[in-house]
Amino acid sequence: MAGSETKARTVADIMSHPVVTVAAVDKMAEAASTMRERRVGSVVVVDGTLPVGILTERDLVRFTAAGADVGTAVVAEWMTESPDTVALDVDVIAAFASLSEHGYRHIPVVDGEQLVGIVSMRDLMRIAQIQPAENLAHEIPRGLEGVVVAETDIGDVRGLEGFYHYRQYNAVDLAEQRSIEDVWHLMLEGELPSRDERAAFMATVAPLREIPAEVRAALPTIVGVGPDAPPLDMLRTTLSLLGAHLGFRPSLDIDATELKAQAMRVCAIVPTLLTAIHRIQHGLEPIDPDPELAYAANYLYMLTGDVPPPVHARAVEQYLISTIDHGFNASTFTARVITSTGADLAAAIVGAIGALSGPLHGGAPSRALDMLDSIGTLDNAEPWLRAAVERGDRLMGFGHRVYKTDDPRSVMLRGVANRLGGPNVELAEQIEAKAIEVLAELKPGRKLYTNVEFYAGIVMDRCGLPREMFTPTFASSRVIGWCAHILEQAADNRLIRPSALYVGPPPPQPLPPLD
Ligand code: ACO
Repeated sequence: MAGSETKARTVADIMSHPVVTVAAVDKMAEAASTMRERRVGSVVVVDGTLPVGILTERDLVRFTAAGADVGTAVVAEWMTESPDTVALDVDVIAAFASLSEHGYRHIPVVDGEQLVGIVSMRDLMRIAQIQPAENLAHEIPRGLEGVVVAETDIGDVRGLEGFYHYRQYNAVDLAEQRSIEDVWHLMLEGELPSRDERAAFMATVAPLREIPAEVRAALPTIVGVGPDAPPLDMLRTTLSLLGAHLGFRPSLDIDATELKAQAMRVCAIVPTLLTAIHRIQHGLEPIDPDPELAYAANYLYMLTGDVPPPVHARAVEQYLISTIDHGFNASTFTARVITSTGADLAAAIVGAIGALSGPLHGGAPSRALDMLDSIGTLDNAEPWLRAAVERGDRLMGFGHRVYKTDDPRSVMLRGVANRLGGPNVELAEQIEAKAIEVLAELKPGRKLYTNVEFYAGIVMDRCGLPREMFTPTFASSRVIGWCAHILEQAADNRLIRPSALYVGPPPPQPLPPLD
């Protein structure tokens, strides 16, 4: 992905050199003709090899507009003195930030105090794939595809390789070999726990799962307002109340320790809230968390009232680990945008849940299973799939913005589904193969393969989760990823505030008379 390339790039990799220079005592006429001949937008003014000023096209315009004497004016009178410089080893993103903050188009590069090159805004944008709205907005890909908007230590997705990672570890290895508590620790604390640290972490989070009495008392009312609404809608409302009840203050006003404590509380309580909401929707009493049970077993227990077979708890746990984080997806980006305003953690999570609930993001697994049901038999698969794609429908559980090959989560979950067995696994594999064939034929070149949601539904169904809980279950693990991103954003915050290219009628138009 562009992010990993960009991260390694420094100013030294992209600067132009040797630099076109002039001396402060040179005549403006000579400097202007140098710039014209060398086709550069600026020249660095040097004293020996020391940069003492910069002269740009804007200075030439000012100079011409002022009607100054071409024969006598010298560079020293029109240049910007003591220009800001950038060191050779500065990351391109940081250099871009410095240029855009000051409104510079060019910045000299120095090694110590010696001039060694120059970088332009255009160089940086090309490399960093950062496009300002001012005059290049039309080049921004729709849906911000491929645009690098931040640096992160949390993880990344390499779409062409079919690989993603949490921190420095392969996420699939984590899902196959570690517990969700370990990965939760990794995401929020930055490292995998030792055995002792894991035990301490589990002891810390167990009481945080419990719902405060005041919020518990409000649940029947919340659910009663929209008895048939998706559980995620209820969760949004409940988390707003929880944040208010626990006194979450704007992230701008609290320190990192307080924000992390809030993150731990929210990650721990979301599964309890979701299962309580689900049970109340079905006229059942919520079940308190069992401190003796690990995360996934406790989740299934709170949902059904039965301690699940270990094989089901482990399958759900693997699904949950595999969906904790996934680059700058829409809900994670939403959480970071809200945090960038300094708003409180509950606000960021509520916004992220809203983004996740859409069928193009997290709302697909139940629809993928509905699709399998509706296809029903292998014989029916090809005509059904063909008709759907020809109608312009999207096959749920296929396609991905970043993956242009197998989604590693889907590969892992196919394995989990096979391990669990069951009547629809074989059919699902056959339908998957047919769908990929149909998509390759009817949507050539789009590289559409199975995404995480296709086998997620099958695994969750097999483990006894009802369809309306598929997307909420996704949310219950993704909240850990959102929280990691919220903490990272708050720790080094700058308001995320992009621009748009206005394409309406040219303003200002005269106001129409009021008829
Ligand atoms: N079925 C049929 N055609 C598809 C599908 C699909 N599942 N996905 C993409 N296409 C086609 C589009 O129709 C489009 O064709 P066109 O060039 O003829 O117009 C082309 O592929 C490109 O589609 P885009 O919408 O530009 O691709 P984008 O990167 O924006 O979409 C997305 C990614 C939203 C996931 C898309 O593949 C999709 O809608 N999939 C189905 C829903 C789904 O499974 N969502 C879960 C995603 S995983 C997650 O969020 C956890």
